[in-house]
Amino acid sequence: MRGIKILGAGMYMPDTVASNDWFSTILDTNDEWIYSRTGIRERRISEDKPNWYMASEAAKRAVADSGIDPSEIDLVLAATCSPDYFYPALSCLVQQQVGAENAAAFDINSACTGFINALDTASRFLEDDDYRNILIVASERLAPHCDYTDRTASILFGDGAGAAVVTKNDKPMWSYLSAKGDFFNALWCKVDQSRANCPLLKPDTLPEGLIDTEAKTHTLQMNGKAVYKFAVDAMETAVNKVLAKSGLTTDDIDLYIPHQANARIIESAVKGLKLPPEKVYVNLEKHGNTSSACIPTCLAELKADGRIKDGMTICLVGFGAGLTSGAIVFGQ
Ligand code: UT7
Repeated sequence: MRGIKILGAGMYMPDTVASNDWFSTILDTNDEWIYSRTGIRERRISEDKPNWYMASEAAKRAVADSGIDPSEIDLVLAATCSPDYFYPALSCLVQQQVGAENAAAFDINSACTGFINALDTASRFLEDDDYRNILIVASERLAPHCDYTDRTASILFGDGAGAAVVTKNDKPMWSYLSAKGDFFNALWCKVDQSRANCPLLKPDTLPEGLIDTEAKTHTLQMNGKAVYKFAVDAMETAVNKVLAKSGLTTDDIDLYIPHQANARIIESAVKGLKLPPEKVYVNLEKHGNTSSACIPTCLAELKADGRIKDGMTICLVGFGAGLTSGAIVFGQ
């Protein structure tokens, strides 16, 4: 039986606050529009700290919170879609910074669903006797990806990192993971190879459905309406599927932590699933959408407030580029 227990959690947010009012100084937008359409008031931008730094700070805090020694970590999993380097993996940089000298390390990229996929992966490793403690970090520096002339997408995203140390548990967990590659062009950002100089290279063959003009190259491109529609349905489906697997009902869940993309998406899913809003944690007003980091930063805030208690049953649910989605239910 799979089971995970959160031993420790931590987060790192950059110092620089980009408020809705700041956006109104660079774009034709305003606080009223952004807040009423998204629930976001401000987000953080990492002016100078790379992703590996944010990830490592969050990871160090999670390890300190867990009370274990870094040498006791058997695996470091990093979820990110905005790494500083193609290689080495972000997880290897975190492993070095944290001093997790005995750990293996690899990365997972499923964009905003990254923490859910990483936690699911961790739970499967924990079924093996070789793995006892796993450090999962989800960290994103999306400011370099965003096009700050695009008022629809740039206002949504923020930078930040969240991490958790997990170990085996005799309380069960269930998961449901999904990918719908047919929607790959709803949210994408192309790798910048503009400085490649191999004389044999020709222009890239693009997948059908992807428009790559000069204006769009190498920045985050989003069909907001398509993602919105997918998101509400995907969150409801993922929660229903994971509950069906577990044999639990929505009433059996003590705490829901959804991906923090848009307050209206969360509200629609909460209404559709008939969840009590007081059981649903939302922190996007201050952080915006930090992609894979959303869920672990919620966990870190809740744990710091003493709101993650032994015996609780917790449901995580998310969606993201891919388009991917998934949900996990676990007993803490
Ligand atoms: O992790 C996944 C990440 N992505 C998402 O979760 C995105 C999901 N989608 C959304 O959250 C919403 O679709 C948005 C917040 C992105 C957009 O909200 P919307 O209610 O779907 O707005 P819209 O795109 O239909 O735009 C309505 C109007 C348009 O003006 P016109 O054509 O009606 O004159 C936009 O140009 O609002 C305009 N608009 C803005 N106005 C002021 C779009 N962005 C802004 C803005 N400020 N920032």
